[in-house]
Amino acid sequence: MNILLAGGAGYIGSHTAVELLNSDHDIVVVDNYSNSDPSVIDRIKEITKKDFKSYEADIRDKKNLEKIFKENKIDGVIHFAGLKAVGESTKMPLAYYRNNIDTTLTLLEVMEEFKVNKFIFSSSATVYGEENKVPYGEDMPRGKATSPYGWTKIMMEQILEDAARANTDLSVIILRYFNPIGAHKSHLIGELPSGIPNNLMPYVTQVAIGKLPKLTIYGGDYDTPDGTCRRDYIHVVDLARAHVMAVEYAKDKKGVDIFNVGTGSPYSVLDIVKAFEKANGLKINYEIGDRRAGDLQDSWADVQKIEKVLGFKTQYDLVDMCKDSWEWEKNIKNISL
Ligand code: NAD
Ligand code: UFG
Repeated sequence: MNILLAGGAGYIGSHTAVELLNSDHDIVVVDNYSNSDPSVIDRIKEITKKDFKSYEADIRDKKNLEKIFKENKIDGVIHFAGLKAVGESTKMPLAYYRNNIDTTLTLLEVMEEFKVNKFIFSSSATVYGEENKVPYGEDMPRGKATSPYGWTKIMMEQILEDAARANTDLSVIILRYFNPIGAHKSHLIGELPSGIPNNLMPYVTQVAIGKLPKLTIYGGDYDTPDGTCRRDYIHVVDLARAHVMAVEYAKDKKGVDIFNVGTGSPYSVLDIVKAFEKANGLKINYEIGDRRAGDLQDSWADVQKIEKVLGFKTQYDLVDMCKDSWEWEKNIKNISL
């Protein structure tokens, strides 16, 4: 199939691009590079030895998007294009609602115009909110989000469900990502946080390389075995592979399907720090600080559905995640951005 990757130059989009090309799908990348670098496109080509078209464009620019759909025979869309920093979304909620919801609406409108009926959406574990109990199952009701970012995901899931009810030819697959970390084994692509990272793993790697002096662990007094929060970390290449399986599943599907994409195994913040130290033979300078507003104590997935329906199994463990994150961090300086 020929899949348009909206936001395909970003962290998860670039890894998915590689896995799709390696599975003999064609891709078209559309990205405005607001949170990525155009050089990522060349590195995807270098890894896969395959060529594809890419456009520098804002997904919200409907005329331009129509032109892209006219120039290419698109079979389906994966929508990664969004703003994703939880803290930033509390400071600039309108930018988050505008970007995340407009990109989704524009894609759906143009897809309808061109009779493209396969839509895969990057959702998040954040939609389970505070109300549900771990492990989160897809049949649980969406909860209340703890940030405008989270609300955009809840709203977009609702929009997609309504769109699929109205257009019965539409196939929507909502992938609720847990915590992707790691990088491609080539270490040519990975996460490129702008400014000081908000997420745990890029913070750890930047402390390890000396860009940042010390990691603050947000809270050591949670009701968990070591007092720190637990999450479901998944290697980004495994997450990317889940998209390939979703694309293939969508071929013969109509309506909405929701899948958690995680490993189902929780690790605490301290587990991650210790695993990173052991995997890479390093020491991380850290302290236990105050809790971060909006953090949930626990978040991990029930993965039975994705395993059963898509046949998805992760291939990489926490050691791979820690090693690949570190190798990528060391390689960033060698990559011309
Ligand atoms: P990312 O920022 O690395 O990638 C997003 C890409 O979209 C970037 O390349 C950015 O330039 C592009 N983009 C943003 N707005 C655009 C627009 N209007 N037009 C064109 N391009 C635009 O983020 P990521 O980590 O790869 O996340 C991808 C998706 O997955 C996002 O929707 C994010 O909310 C979701 N998600 C991410 C995580 C995570 O931990 N990384 C967890 C859950 C869900
Ligand atoms: N943490 C620290 N110190 C840091 C950064 C993080 O202790 O400097 C802790 C957090 O408190 C949390 C854990 O590490 O307990 C993971 O935090 P991240 O920020 O890496 O990830 P979150 O689980 O908070 O959020 C991620 C994505 C969101 C998404 C959410 C649920 O960043 O986009 O998962 O899917 F909404």
